[in-house]
Amino acid sequence: MRVLGIESSCDDTAAAVLEGETVQSNVISSQHDLHEEYGGVVPELASRDHQRLIVPVVESALDEAETSPGALDAVAVTRGPGLPGSLLVGLSFGKALARGLDIPLIGVNHLEGHLYSVDLTAPVPPRPYLCLIVSGGHTELVHVEEGFQHRVLGRTRDDAAGEAFDKIAQLFGLGYPGGPAIDRHAEDGNPSFHDFPRTRLDDFDFSFSGLKTSVLYYLRDRSDAERDRLLDEHRDDLCASVQNAIVDVLVDAVRRAARETGAEHVAVVGGVAANRALRRRVEVAGSEEAFTVYVPDLSYCMDNAAMIARAGAHHLAAGDASPPYLDVTPNVQL
Ligand code: KG4
Ligand code: ZN
Repeated sequence: MRVLGIESSCDDTAAAVLEGETVQSNVISSQHDLHEEYGGVVPELASRDHQRLIVPVVESALDEAETSPGALDAVAVTRGPGLPGSLLVGLSFGKALARGLDIPLIGVNHLEGHLYSVDLTAPVPPRPYLCLIVSGGHTELVHVEEGFQHRVLGRTRDDAAGEAFDKIAQLFGLGYPGGPAIDRHAEDGNPSFHDFPRTRLDDFDFSFSGLKTSVLYYLRDRSDAERDRLLDEHRDDLCASVQNAIVDVLVDAVRRAARETGAEHVAVVGGVAANRALRRRVEVAGSEEAFTVYVPDLSYCMDNAAMIARAGAHHLAAGDASPPYLDVTPNVQL
C-alpha cells in the first residue's frame, strides 16, 4: 500500500510517500520567511504560497520516493482544522489527483495526523497511550486506545502552547516562530527570575492567555529605557521564566492525566515537542510516575505530510475512504 500524504493546513506545504510502514519521502517547504516580518501567519499570503508550492512539493516527494503517480494506491490529505484558504489548496489538489488516478481519497483530521505520528518512529508506543499534542495551533491531551479510538481529556480554552511561545517571543523582540528562540535563550537563563502565573484548571483543559497578558503588563508598566535595559540584561532569564511557566502547566497536566488513566505510555507530539525543557521535564515525570515517554523524530513532530499519510493509511485499512465531494472543515475537532 503506497499512500501519498498532503498537508497544507497552516504555513507549511508538505507531501510525503508512505509505503507500508516505511516513509519513503517527507518533503516540507516552510513559509516562515514569508510571514516573519508580520510576526505571525498571514492567511492570504499563506494560501497563495501553497498554490505556488503544491505541485513542486508533491513532485519532489514522488521523486525522492523514486515513484510515480501511477504507482500510488491512495491520496491522504488534511481536511482540517486549519486556515480555510490554505486547506483548500491541498484538498483541491489531492481530490483532483485522486480523481484523475481513480484511487481512494482520504480526508484526514490534522490532529489525528499528530496523534498517529508516533507510529513513524521506533519504538512505537503500545496502546493505550496518553498523547500531549503541543503545536502552534493546538494543545490537547488525548487518551489513544486500540483500534483507532481516542478520547480527548482536555484542550486549550484560548491560546495554544506554541502560540503562547510565539506571542511572548514577539514581546521580547525575538523573531517568528518564537518557540525555538525562547528555548535557545532559556538554556542560559534563570527560570526563577520572575514568577509568571500558571493557570491550572480543575479539568485537563489549558489556558495560556493569562500568561501572555501578564508578560505584556510586566513590560508595559516600565519606561522605554527601563524596558530596553531589562530585555538587554535579562532576556535569557525572562525566556527561562516564561518557558518554565508553560512547561510547569503542561507537565502537571500530563502527570495528573497519567495517574487518572493509569497510563504507562505517554507521547509528546507537535512542534513544541522540540522544546528541550519540556522533554527533560516529561522524562523526569515519567521516571517518577512510572510511564515511558515517546517523542517522534522532530521531522514528524512539526507539521508534515508523513503523519497525514500514516493516519490516512489507518483509515483506509478500516475501509474508511472519503467521498469525492469532500470539503474542508476548518474548525473540526478531534
Ligand atoms: O507543529 P508545528 O510545526 O505547527 C503547528 O501545527 O502549529 O508547531 C509550530 C510551533 C510554533 O508555535 C513554534 O514556536 C513551536 O512549535 N516550537 C517550539 C520549539 N520549536 C518549535 N516551541 C518551543 N520550543 C521549541 N524548541
Ligand atoms: Zn500541527
